[in-house]
Amino acid sequence: MSLAYINLLLAVTGLLQVVIAGKPQKVKISGPEEVVAGVDALYECSALCTGLCHYSWLSEGRTVDGRTFTLTADGVNTVVSLACTVSDEERKNFESKVISVTVINPISVRPSKDQPVLNREPKVGRSFKLTCDGATPPVTIIWLKGFELITLNSRMSLSPDNTTLSFSSLEAKDSGEYRCKVLNGSAAVISKDYWIYFGFVQVGLTGPRSAEVGFETEYTCSAECGVDCTVQWALRTGFPKGRFIADGPKIRWTPSELGQTQIFTCLALNPVAGKLGEVSVPVTVIEARPRPRPSNAISARPSVAMVIGATLLMLVCALA
Ligand SMILES: *[C@@H]1O[C@H](CO)[C@@H](O)[C@H](O)[C@H]1NC(C)=O
Ligand SMILES: *[C@@H]1O[C@H](CO)[C@@H](O)[C@H](O)[C@H]1NC(C)=O
Repeated sequence: MSLAYINLLLAVTGLLQVVIAGKPQKVKISGPEEVVAGVDALYECSALCTGLCHYSWLSEGRTVDGRTFTLTADGVNTVVSLACTVSDEERKNFESKVISVTVINPISVRPSKDQPVLNREPKVGRSFKLTCDGATPPVTIIWLKGFELITLNSRMSLSPDNTTLSFSSLEAKDSGEYRCKVLNGSAAVISKDYWIYFGFVQVGLTGPRSAEVGFETEYTCSAECGVDCTVQWALRTGFPKGRFIADGPKIRWTPSELGQTQIFTCLALNPVAGKLGEVSVPVTVIEARPRPRPSNAISARPSVAMVIGATLLMLVCALA
């Protein structure tokens, strides 16, 4: 048999395999779009294959073979991706489907309500208590700093059921990200985190408390923080009527309607710790005072709203 003939034969058989075993079709994952951390959720993958389908799952680095997959989210991620890969009988052709599952975490670390109001924000030199909220004994609770098991020092103590972590007096080195881990049988849930943070934060807002109809009023926000921070405006009472311009730390507003009250809030934000501080100013729109002619007034163009900076708009949506 000549070499050329063998090669041809191989080419033909290869071609046949491709034709017979096409890609799996209609790969579908069924199961809940939303799960609760620590609670099992069942997913099933289906597809149409030439011959038998082989299924395999991939989620958070874990691979499992089979048509069904049990997801038990630990609560660390708010969204978990779930991939089902289907191959044909020969395991030559693959087709995947990926879905995103939202994880609801019922456990969070918060400052305890069982302490004086003044102590509910961590301050160096003061006592402070954190609770593992959402966990009801009998369960095992352990405390984490970052993702490491906490080593208690002489200023720290745990309640007998571990739901409360108390500091007799806070020190700068206690700053960090605290979590509790709740173990109930085989299920383990890691809580949402809480940051103990001692940076010095000062948020300042300048601008008048009353604005005249048809006249421009300016507001400026500034913040000084112990860590990196940026300022951002929030409009919690809705979008101001009239001409409104938000440009970085400045807001310029020419109200068009008498009697409306607008609350401008300035937030100091840190990318890791979140909101560090905020300050608000309520602004009431008053009648324009008579002015000597020629007027230096900027004529108002009612209902023209202009926003510079997409971040402001996003914030408005998030708070609405
Ligand atoms: C612990 O797990 C059991 C069984 O999964 C469940 O019925 C029970 O409600 C859980 N308890 C808590 C406190 O989460
Ligand atoms: C309390 O936490 C410690 C570790 O910090 C752990 O060994 C113990 O089992 C926990 N007890 C309860 C009741 O959760």
